[in-house]
Amino acid sequence: MNHIRAIIFDLDGVICSTDHYHALAWKVLADRLGIPFDEQVGSKLRGISRMESLEIILGDRRGDFSESEKLAMAEEKNRIYQTYLSAMTPGDLSQEVRMTIHTLRQRGYLLAIGSSSKNTRQLLNQLGLGDFFDAVVDGTQITHGKPNPQVFQLAASKLGVAPEQAVVIEDSKTGVQAAYAGGFSAIGIRSENNDPDSDISIRKLSNLLDIL
Ligand code: BG6
Ligand code: MG
Repeated sequence: MNHIRAIIFDLDGVICSTDHYHALAWKVLADRLGIPFDEQVGSKLRGISRMESLEIILGDRRGDFSESEKLAMAEEKNRIYQTYLSAMTPGDLSQEVRMTIHTLRQRGYLLAIGSSSKNTRQLLNQLGLGDFFDAVVDGTQITHGKPNPQVFQLAASKLGVAPEQAVVIEDSKTGVQAAYAGGFSAIGIRSENNDPDSDISIRKLSNLLDIL
């Protein structure tokens, strides 16, 4: 990967384990509505915007609710998610991730975040990473969510690099699809319950140091 100058990281499930908090918050809502929700459903929501996630969770029952009821449900989920988020501290950034991103910076790569989440800024601040990345693009700045490549294209343009010069690090299928659609390379983080379907995959973020 000699041509790579920049690394664009997804946030939830890549830099930190907030993918679990998103799933937990959705589960509270799904339980209240009597809709089955397990880890498999939770994994399908990786990388997907808040409103699109709600539609997936409601499934066949999506027609039973008005738009304003759905908005209220999405806000309810976000309030629950924010209770987890607000308790996070720099201690929630693992030593492994911290070491990896600092080493990649020392190696001269430009580093960015490309996340669908509208809570990105708050999360980065809580983790003590508010000023760390060279560019941050999040759910508040895009009109098309993953698998549309807009989030990564905007990040690359903020960094001043072409898509061929950047690699996207993702834990979601939709994120990997977005990267390929935009002409980026992608490296997926694979786990027992989740395969993001990328050409190159790693088990943990520090494996990047063997590749980049
Ligand atoms: C993504 C998560 O990063 O952000 C999704 O993988 C989440 O699970 C999406 O739905 C939107 O997040 P938020 O914080 O704007 O509701
Ligand atoms: Mg993710």
